Amino acid sequence: MYSNRKILLAEDTIDAQELHQLASWLQSGTRLTKGPLTLDFERAFAQYIGTKHAIFVNSGSSANLLIAYALLKSGHLRNNVVIAPTVAWVTTIAPFMQFGFEVKLCDCNATDLGFDLDAFEAMCEQYQPACAILVHVLGHATDMDRLLSICKRHDVHLIEDTCEALGSEYKGQKLGSLGLAGSFSFYYGHHISTIEGGMVVLNDSYLFNVMLSIRSHGWARDLQDASMHAAWTKEYGIDEVRDLYTFYFPGFNLRSTDLNAFLGLSQLKKLESLVHKRESNFLLYRQLLPKFWSQQSPTSTLSSFAYGLLVQNRLETCKYLTSHGIESRPLICGSLARHPFWTKEKDSVDLPMASIVHDHGIYLPNHGNLSTEDIHFIADKVNEVAKPLFF
Ligand SMILES: Cc1ncc(COP(=O)(O)O)c(C=O)c1O
Repeated sequence: MYSNRKILLAEDTIDAQELHQLASWLQSGTRLTKGPLTLDFERAFAQYIGTKHAIFVNSGSSANLLIAYALLKSGHLRNNVVIAPTVAWVTTIAPFMQFGFEVKLCDCNATDLGFDLDAFEAMCEQYQPACAILVHVLGHATDMDRLLSICKRHDVHLIEDTCEALGSEYKGQKLGSLGLAGSFSFYYGHHISTIEGGMVVLNDSYLFNVMLSIRSHGWARDLQDASMHAAWTKEYGIDEVRDLYTFYFPGFNLRSTDLNAFLGLSQLKKLESLVHKRESNFLLYRQLLPKFWSQQSPTSTLSSFAYGLLVQNRLETCKYLTSHGIESRPLICGSLARHPFWTKEKDSVDLPMASIVHDHGIYLPNHGNLSTEDIHFIADKVNEVAKPLFF
């Protein structure tokens, strides 16, 4: 029954009806660039996450970049030291490297793959960083109460890279809303898709307006705080005409478009059902793979991104799964400390748990179209070939 079936890691969330609606909207002769739908999408997304503000950008990577640069330019930071996770995505930390931050990598814990909080606390004491960025790995929160209290004690701004955890909750609060700012990705294969796309969410209105400027070249035209806009023009003696092309920051163009926002608004309507499907898929995998390590976390709603496994024989397992039409990948980046972009520039760091993930981590498909039979089939194949890793 499954011989010709391909089970993909991820599948498109944009369906034929949405494409049809998009085509009609495109034909209505609207301008398409960032406009009113972007504002609608931002408002709806902020409301969903439970923050005051949201800023739509063209990817999750751009969301991280915007946060890092806005923090630097807004005067929020007392130094340029940042603690970052080792099990993460490259663009979780790349912007901090690009902007000259001193990036200190922290190992992951063996339970939810978030920060090893003892190590994190010791690093806060040693380096006194102005900020930290975390990743909610494959949708799982770590012990956020303890993490937030460490950050509070050491006066550390916490950024949440929530690109793998849209819809997950910690004690009923959406991930991404717990720190100073959160980032999201709407790339193909994520919980919802705007083709490419990302979002920053936050409550700090000053930082929000700085981000609005930096997202669009560094001008003040997009600011939502009129008094802030007036203060800037007054300070630099800018008249109404000059104001159109006056740049307050060496900005970027990180904008998305109303086309992508159109999709975002319709995708948001499906999000809750996708979250529940992903959570039940995760629970079924865990039930069918009892011999294997599984992520355990205090996430109250788990918007699982993929099912993570640690096995002794990764190459053999992945090849066997491929031969049965099942797609798998390494468990995100493994250890960032072992990638060429890091080793070429930085001293080596000993991060043993991240290294285990690097050498033994796999992730298995999880998406809205995965059936119960698919998961049984995948688990059967894993049980046939994979050797559980004990550590
Ligand atoms: C944790 C994390 N951060 C950032 C990103 C980057 O998002 P994008 O592909 O939209 O740039 C990803 C992508 O999967 C990710 O998993």
